[in-house]
Amino acid sequence: MKLMKCMTTLLCAAQICLVSMAGAAPLSITLPPETAAFKPSALPGYPLAQQKCSICHSADYINFQPPGMSLAQWTAEASKMQHVYGAPISDQDVSVIGAYLAVTYGSAQASDADVQAASNPPVDQPPTVSVAKVASALLQDNSCLSCHAIDHKVVGPAYHDVAAKYANDPQALARVMSSIEHGGSGKWGDVPMPPFAQLSSDDLKSLATFIMSQ
Ligand code: HEC
Ligand code: HEC
Repeated sequence: MKLMKCMTTLLCAAQICLVSMAGAAPLSITLPPETAAFKPSALPGYPLAQQKCSICHSADYINFQPPGMSLAQWTAEASKMQHVYGAPISDQDVSVIGAYLAVTYGSAQASDADVQAASNPPVDQPPTVSVAKVASALLQDNSCLSCHAIDHKVVGPAYHDVAAKYANDPQALARVMSSIEHGGSGKWGDVPMPPFAQLSSDDLKSLATFIMSQ
């Protein structure tokens, strides 16, 4: 990486120099291709690896591993970064990144059942727990629970029923966020739900995510 930076600086300096010598003559210089990049993939581990595996070294460390490594081997490699070298990644990151590396650089297939499982770890992990914590505080603070309960109708519908209603809707999160922000009536009965326009979009998202998981 250092070497690449130097070369870029040199080329730029050369470009300025040549341009000023040759007046306004157009000059284009093709920079060497970026070799130290992660191979693109549709798997969720691709953006994660870009974020978390470039903190200490370039992607060349991954490029230089022997080909054909299995899911277990790549996951062990990511886990070694976490445990031995102190990479700031969670166990969930290790499994998601391991799956991406095994498919993109190793012998695994994106359709393998174990790759799929590793790429989509179960949702009841730490991040969701904290969403639940944040959400239950928000439910308390905004007296949502004076009109709603999780599993039975109060003034408004049970959150469980709201989750079921939107279960197959790809826009569910956005719709539920908007329902909370703007309130409304007529979806569940004649009683209106008041708007909560003062909530930030992060708060709306935590609430909607929580409600959708009931
Ligand atoms: C906290 C710093 C740090 C982070 C973050 C990090 N690594 Fe490393 N990585 C290292 C160190 C240190 C080495 C060993 C360097 C050496 O031997 O020169 C290494 C080496 C490697 C190697 C070479 C083989 C080996 O085992 O030595 C691979 C492959 C690798 N890392 C992959 C990854 C992946 C994948 C990630 C993201 C999950 C990652 N690294 C994140 C510090 C880190
Ligand atoms: C004063 C009573 C009341 C309060 C307070 C209240 N709601 Fe409601 N809520 C309702 C009613 C009534 C409905 C049904 C509206 C309808 O039929 O369209 C509803 C509907 C909903 C729905 C379903 C919307 C849809 O699109 O189907 C969600 C989600 C919801 N409320 C979340 C919340 C949250 C989160 C809070 C607190 C920030 C909250 N509610 C506070 C009465 C209330």
